[in-house]
Amino acid sequence: MAEFVRAAALNELEPNQLKGMKLNNRYVAVVKIGEEVFAFEDNCSHAACSISPGEVEDYIAPCYCHGALFDVRTGGVVQGPAGRPLPVFAVKVEGDEVFVEL
Ligand code: FES
Repeated sequence: MAEFVRAAALNELEPNQLKGMKLNNRYVAVVKIGEEVFAFEDNCSHAACSISPGEVEDYIAPCYCHGALFDVRTGGVVQGPAGRPLPVFAVKVEGDEVFVEL
């Protein structure tokens, strides 16, 4: 059953910088963009590289292994070679704490 798991304090997230972490045995990347926080599986659907660390520009996260680009809002592939989207996770912010639903 899905549950919200604490991921980070809000002030631990640098704007537009992917932060990788392991939560409930899953690799998760979290990024703060403006007032919003997004989370997705930190495991490229092409050849399983980590997407984090890295910088997100215009909601697009690059995989540095072979250049795939993903939309952090949907996990969708913007540019291959990845062919499948990344799972995305719901995020809630309570006070200064960020939680990810896993
Ligand atoms: S592992 Fe990410 S593009 Fe190849």
